[in-house]
Amino acid sequence: MAAPFNDNNPEGATPLDRDELAGLKFAHVTTRGELDHLEQANIQSGMQWLNRTRQTEILSEVFIRTLHKRLFGEVWRWAGTFRTTEKNIGVDPITIAIELRHLIDDTRYWIDHQTYPPLEIAARFHHRLVYIHPFPNGNGRHARIMADAILTKIYGNPSIDWAGGYDLQSMNERRQVYISALRAADQRDYMPLFSFIGLI
Ligand SMILES: Nc1ncnc2c1ncn2[C@@H]1O[C@H](COP(=O)(O)OP(=O)(O)O)[C@@H](O)[C@H]1O
Ligand SMILES: [Mg+2]
Repeated sequence: MAAPFNDNNPEGATPLDRDELAGLKFAHVTTRGELDHLEQANIQSGMQWLNRTRQTEILSEVFIRTLHKRLFGEVWRWAGTFRTTEKNIGVDPITIAIELRHLIDDTRYWIDHQTYPPLEIAARFHHRLVYIHPFPNGNGRHARIMADAILTKIYGNPSIDWAGGYDLQSMNERRQVYISALRAADQRDYMPLFSFIGLI
């Protein structure tokens, strides 16, 4: 069961381990195409929930986990719960909650003190969240939607055009630029990410 989903992973994706794969709610799924399809349908309903929710406190661990559950919970049993295994990306799993606390506190501070423009706050938040990599899978999609939620729900601004006409979930030049921008941000060089999202 492991092979089909991990085989065609695009660059910068996190492979799932055995226990995580066992959390799949659909026993009949065998190909990545089928899985992508199920996840995409779940994300659509999660986005609808996000658009109509009256919850305003989006910068909280509860909201971050709830959103992940709404986006992936029809497909994965572990949706909305933190990962317990090491990945090729992400902090040590035992530090996820505390790292998330720091990110939430920092982001609140940036917003309250207008440390950066809204788009820059969304970009920095996005990178820090995927860098922590709280969940077994879906971190990229969840963290892009979270960054957009900051822009739309806190600032009333438009969301980011992440895909730019491409499919960011498969290997193409746009994803390559996105992943290398995140790698630069890992080294504290945020310029490629700012340019990717159209900030500069
Ligand atoms: N070097 C990196 N630093 C920070 N984040 C990264 C890095 N490489 C990849 N990522 C993020 O991790 C995501 C892949 O993690 P994954 O949990 O598989 O998310 P998804 O299933 O939504 O694609 C990428 O979309 C990207 O956002
Ligand atoms: Mg993935």
